[in-house]
Amino acid sequence: MPFADTSVYKVPDELTDEQVLFLADILPTSYEVGVLNGGVQPGDTVAVVGAGPIGLAAIMTAKLYTPGRIVAIDLAEARLEKEALEFGADIAINTGSEHAVERVMALTGGLGADVAIEAVGVPETFELCADLVRPGGHVANVGVHGHPATLHLEKLWIRDVTIMTGLVDTFSTPRLLELIANGRLDATPFATHRFPLAETMAAYDTFAAAAETNALKVVLEGEPARREEREREGAAVGL
Ligand SMILES: NC(=O)c1ccc[n+]([C@@H]2O[C@H](COP(=O)([O-])OP(=O)(O)OC[C@H]3O[C@@H](n4cnc5c(N)ncnc54)[C@H](O)[C@@H]3O)[C@@H](O)[C@H]2O)c1
Repeated sequence: MPFADTSVYKVPDELTDEQVLFLADILPTSYEVGVLNGGVQPGDTVAVVGAGPIGLAAIMTAKLYTPGRIVAIDLAEARLEKEALEFGADIAINTGSEHAVERVMALTGGLGADVAIEAVGVPETFELCADLVRPGGHVANVGVHGHPATLHLEKLWIRDVTIMTGLVDTFSTPRLLELIANGRLDATPFATHRFPLAETMAAYDTFAAAAETNALKVVLEGEPARREEREREGAAVGL
């Protein structure tokens, strides 16, 4: 395994594969590039723009710091209504029908969010985060961008705003693993669908049609995982 010296961790025997599966990407990404780069503090107003798996993982890991409120912002009502609030957001704003900046300003006495986490990767959501953040606040960009976004220095130059970007390192994996092992973090709700490895194409179709299937993450199970599951359920295993 190349680079195994620095990227392989022993999973405690008592944890299931699904409990640790999301340590492979979304949890450390949102925690490191969103929550830690954003410097979330107790009591903060945290705005998370984009309520896909990355935004939801940012909501979940921001809660470790007891923010004052988490505001989830998205265009998709289903993601906001169900997932964002279930994953721990306090307020959901649909930018299709509501003015997110006005709502956040009204919630924060006209100041803005302490931390704005960008979890989409398009110019308008980065620019929205820059509009949502209060003077002295932090914008943590997690989204992968394919097009240039405008940095409105004519508004930002006086506001002492910190903007952070980055690719996940996964340096936080041992800490997140510890939190999972101690029952402080449960990422299993991300697994909305499960398929055997032989049905990989159906799994991709389900994931690609997330708007209709409400898929967050689709788990592909190899035979050993399915066998473990059956063993856990106490069923006889025929080899
Ligand atoms: N920095 C890193 O290391 C890293 C690692 C993994 C993923 N990412 C990036 O994080 C981003 C989010 O990933 P994901 O898997 O959650 O994506 P996703 O496509 O599943 O979710 C994106 C969400 O954003 C919403 N959205 C789209 N346009 C919007 C708009 N204009 N305003 C508000 N909401 C809007 C969608 O409805 C959806 O709920 C992607 O750009 C991905 O590439 C970055």
